[in-house]
Amino acid sequence: MKTLAIETSCDDTSLGIVTYDQGVFTNPVLCAYSQITDHQPYGGVVPEVAYRLHEEKILSLLDQIGWDEIMSCDSITVTLEPGLPGSLVVGNAVASMLGNFLNKPIIRVNHIDGHIFSILLDRSIDNCPFPWLILTASGGHNEMYIISGTMEDLVIKKIGYSLDDAAGESFDKVARMLGGSYPGGPWISQMAQLYQERHMQSDFTPTLDAIHFKRILLDGKGVNKPQSEIDAHIFDFSFSGMKSQVYQLLTKHPLDSLSQDDILWICHEFQECVTDMLIQKILRGLEHYSVQTIGLVGGVSANDRLYDKLTTMIEEQYDTHTLVGEKPTVLRPVKKVYSTDNAAMIGVVGILKKTYSECS
Ligand code: KG4
Ligand code: ZN
Repeated sequence: MKTLAIETSCDDTSLGIVTYDQGVFTNPVLCAYSQITDHQPYGGVVPEVAYRLHEEKILSLLDQIGWDEIMSCDSITVTLEPGLPGSLVVGNAVASMLGNFLNKPIIRVNHIDGHIFSILLDRSIDNCPFPWLILTASGGHNEMYIISGTMEDLVIKKIGYSLDDAAGESFDKVARMLGGSYPGGPWISQMAQLYQERHMQSDFTPTLDAIHFKRILLDGKGVNKPQSEIDAHIFDFSFSGMKSQVYQLLTKHPLDSLSQDDILWICHEFQECVTDMLIQKILRGLEHYSVQTIGLVGGVSANDRLYDKLTTMIEEQYDTHTLVGEKPTVLRPVKKVYSTDNAAMIGVVGILKKTYSECS
């Protein structure tokens, strides 16, 4: 099986070829135009700019893929939703045109399904046994799913979602407040890493004394809400409290009064808060669902601190029998480019849909 995949839901024009053979998905060709530098001056994605750039770049990316490659595909897969409407239209129009001219079926897929199944790229399906617990954490979505059943008969259950910002969105907003670059996640994680390197040995005392982040984890601690409301959201996420902490801190201590070390410290603390929140919810999920595979997907899964902390916690919790049952394997996409928006993950869902009927 071979598909041409097209992803234009947000700020990446990404096209790729995905093949499926003997239980392994591979992605021999991936061509993309990232609009990051075009949106950087605005500190976030501007929809009008995004769709115009998709229009401008998509045809030359088809040429880069190569027409022999395209002709040899069995199908065309394209992201249908969710995403920026204008951007989605560009990908879908090109897919319709190609499908009709080349007489190939068009498979329209869900972007979140793409992230969920991105863990299958370059891995044998046999090494990703069901059930799965999947955390989708990116700029536009932050959800937790339990995927069970078989490839022929998949059951996808959403068990949690963000009550406010998505994790990546909170990284982006906080980076902007701190004068960092867009997208904020990679910038904050670099600053946090720098903090670690500088202060590994010495204890750093920020000049911002007495100001600490509240690690609001929606489990009752520090949250003044009725128990029933807290119980209703045990798998849900909230990042706006942490973001507000940074905002309030900057109101008291304007950015230009902070030292570079202060900024590194804020980035470090913020990253710790966000990753703690994500991990706490995964652990909560594992108390209720027995799974064999944990998948971290979406842009934030490129965060090494999140992955390292989660794998350590899983080891500890199962070794000390805090969590019981078979220890699940933690997976994230094999390449960082498969964590952020990309056509390869869309191709996987297209082939799954064609091979095993509907995915969601
Ligand atoms: O999946 P993605 O490319 O687009 C959406 O579907 O939203 O995710 C982009 C998001 C951005 O918010 C970006 O800041 C975040 O993923 N991100 C990261 C890292 N790399 C990208 N967040 C934390 N740490 C990273 N290393
Ligand atoms: Zn995405």
